[in-house]
Amino acid sequence: MSVGLVPTMGALHIGHLSLIDRARTENVCVVVSIFVNPLQFGVGEDFEKYPRTLEGDLQICETAGVDAVFAPNMEEMGIINADSDAKSDAKLTEVIPPLEMMDTMCGRSRIGHFQGVATIVTKLLNIVQPDRAYFGCKDGQQLAIIRQLVNDLNMPVEIVGCPTVREPSGLACSSRNQYLSASDRVLAVHIYQSLLQARQQFFLCYELCLPSQIIGAAQNYLNKLPEINLEYIELVDAKTLQPCTQITSESELMLAIAARIGNTRLIDNILLSHT
Ligand code: PAJ
Repeated sequence: MSVGLVPTMGALHIGHLSLIDRARTENVCVVVSIFVNPLQFGVGEDFEKYPRTLEGDLQICETAGVDAVFAPNMEEMGIINADSDAKSDAKLTEVIPPLEMMDTMCGRSRIGHFQGVATIVTKLLNIVQPDRAYFGCKDGQQLAIIRQLVNDLNMPVEIVGCPTVREPSGLACSSRNQYLSASDRVLAVHIYQSLLQARQQFFLCYELCLPSQIIGAAQNYLNKLPEINLEYIELVDAKTLQPCTQITSESELMLAIAARIGNTRLIDNILLSHT
């Protein structure tokens, strides 16, 4: 009997549902885990405020035909001190992904975030022991790091990457979109628009394109919107996450953005390749 695991932090939306649906089509049994993981939140991040909607999530899972929901508490996950500063108090074995995959993009500002993700995902995979585990391309750095982790530690699971689900406006679905006001949402749409602008540039100049031209296209677009507080725009190899220095016909790239609108930090990315 094949088992598919969809790891989540709850506050389920149609992005999560697309992972569940994919798992449903590829496995006999689908397990969804719901755990707001304190190890991946830094001090001053939104661990306390993160939306917790377990009742609604269980309903969504039932309607989606999920066979089992694993919603452990802190103790069950082996995290003893459950306050927001749990990271510094946690006494547990940590999984540390390659530094050069964490030294970039979100890892630059979210110190310890990907160790926290890698540690909890390892624990979830070991507990559930699925044949396949499903992750969204929306969190492209996370997906690349988890693929690397599973490969490096010889974990017997297939990692399945699923496309980013977007609202009709183009805004990538995210549990954090709940924090956005109506006017923030209008602004947030421009993050994806800027990525599309860069994609146009990528296809326009084909292999002659310089990485700086791709990044510049997105940057120029966003520069006209000072309310969008850009944290980074990076063009990297989609697998290794190393900065792209030259574009070739074989390049498989990810153009990724993190930006703040008000107090809400949003991320998005697109994949770029000529193959
Ligand atoms: P969470 O943010 O709840 O996301 C759970 C999964 O849903 C992740 O693989 C994420 O990439 C995917 N996802 C989120 N929004 C999506 C969208 N718009 N389209 C497609 N997939 C989307 O990511 C985490 O939780 C945690 O870091 C976790 C992996 C559970 C470890 O704690």
